[in-house]
Amino acid sequence: MAEQKESILDDPMSFGRSRIGGDLLIFNFTGDKHGFDGKVDIVINRGVAGESDIYLSKVELAAKNQGQHLCKLMVTYCLQRAYQIIRRGWMENEEFLIEPITYDKKQKLTGDVYISTMARHFEAAKNCYISSFEKIGFEHVNAGFPEEYDPDMQADGQKTTRENAEIISQVLQFIEVDKTSAVVNEQSHSQLLVPEFGYQFFKEGGFFFGKKKTRKRRKKKSRKKKKKKQTRKKKDRKWTDTTYPYRNITARDAIKDFLRLRKLAQGDINPRSTTGNAVVDYGTEKARRKTKYRNRSFVELWKNKERREKMLKFAKRLHKLSNPGNIHGAIRSAIDLQWGTVNTMRAAAAIHMYKKYDATRVLDFTAGWGARMVAAMALDIDYIGIDSNKSLKPGYEKIIKLLKPYTKSKVKMYWQEAQTVNLSKVGKYDYVFTSPPYEYLEVYENMTNYEKKGVRIRQPSSSQKIKMEDSAKFYDEFLVPTLKNAYKYLPRNKFICLNMPDIMYDKIKKRWKKVTKCEDYSIVKRTGGPTGKDNRRGKELIFCWKKR
Ligand SMILES: C[S@@+](CC[C@H](N)C(=O)[O-])C[C@H]1O[C@@H](n2cnc3c(N)ncnc32)[C@H](O)[C@@H]1O
Repeated sequence: MAEQKESILDDPMSFGRSRIGGDLLIFNFTGDKHGFDGKVDIVINRGVAGESDIYLSKVELAAKNQGQHLCKLMVTYCLQRAYQIIRRGWMENEEFLIEPITYDKKQKLTGDVYISTMARHFEAAKNCYISSFEKIGFEHVNAGFPEEYDPDMQADGQKTTRENAEIISQVLQFIEVDKTSAVVNEQSHSQLLVPEFGYQFFKEGGFFFGKKKTRKRRKKKSRKKKKKKQTRKKKDRKWTDTTYPYRNITARDAIKDFLRLRKLAQGDINPRSTTGNAVVDYGTEKARRKTKYRNRSFVELWKNKERREKMLKFAKRLHKLSNPGNIHGAIRSAIDLQWGTVNTMRAAAAIHMYKKYDATRVLDFTAGWGARMVAAMALDIDYIGIDSNKSLKPGYEKIIKLLKPYTKSKVKMYWQEAQTVNLSKVGKYDYVFTSPPYEYLEVYENMTNYEKKGVRIRQPSSSQKIKMEDSAKFYDEFLVPTLKNAYKYLPRNKFICLNMPDIMYDKIKKRWKKVTKCEDYSIVKRTGGPTGKDNRRGKELIFCWKKR
């Protein structure tokens, strides 16, 4: 690797952390160093079972450099660098270590790209990506993702067709072709030259420049300095910004996250995987930040200048200690640590449960932030969701619209209180899975105070304060009647499973009946959650009733 680095005059690559997980390779080509202006981002995703994926997440070429055959040159170089990093491993200042992945015929590397571009650029972009992946020995696999036209781009009533579409989107997926170990070895160690304007006019065939170092070496010292500067480059936010630091997941990131979730869902998914969180946040993060904890939502706390400044002071300390490049991340961590977290189930955990219980149509009567819907969509199974918080509707619609081309699931949502839905009319379901509110610990928009109708809910300051005799009407008027109803229309031998703390189960048992079994693994961590009977802080059981 050292030899390769020394042969490069101006290394365009630096490292970053991807918002959707994975290792981010950032490539910057500039007019003065490379003769053209271009940017490429690649995310290397490495699964638990050793699978690896090269996601081409951004390709930009300055308008003045378009139509000069530079796209293929630039993208091939970047893909090849990513490939070499995966196959050979990489160490950067001993902070950034990637274990090498050896070639395995049964478990090949995969690649993907989400194209979303002006219709007139679409074919050129598609050709560029397909031929660049081919150059590094990957073939295009048709995963059944059609070209999409954005109907919102057209005037009222006009149907969008390929001819009149302004924006066309499509996901392309790739898989490494069969290779001999000699080819993999050659590809993993071939010396690459950084593309410069001009190469494309005399270069023939493949991209690997195996032999001569035709370019000057630069003194080690000065190159080192430059490298450090590049890795610290990502400046995404200023301390003085007053907008709430949402994750702001883009459609492209959300699709990528979902496709990765689908892939994981096909194997033995780790229920603790955070894949799927980005697509949930894409839809409902903003509504989640309005949830009240200790009588205030994060958005309210943010608007309070005094509270915000106190938190920012803490964020600055975190920022100094951890990643000095990432102000946005430091603020988000400070919020979580100082103001608490609003929990969301992981889609991976829901997938794990759906598979275990052979679900084909799920009923989720407190749907929440959408992770269980996303999980169903990743498995192509159907989903019926109910939630009383109507403010979640636009976020759900956003997710459903985005994922429609990538799933066969049928989704039906009811925006009303679960106890008022006639479950004999929602269609057949064969698994009930949800994560009900922890009484009034978190208060969602549009949530009823069952204890004193019409009166503002007074929240407990912590889960430890919740006692057996509290919130009787929450159980008597909402949770237990809904459970009994869901049970009534469930086929025999099928299950209702609820993710909740022990004390809630004790209250339900008192009013209804004992569970058939408990799933004994930690699924979500609830900050400040109960210590529990066997001291399993942070772990919540999943309580399951079998229909007899
Ligand atoms: C957000 S979930 C709890 C968090 C959960 N861990 C998750 O992953 O989504 C609880 C949801 O129940 C909803 N809810 C509260 N009372 C309800 C009711 N009577 N009927 C239906 N939904 C209700 C809330 O609006 C909230 O979205």
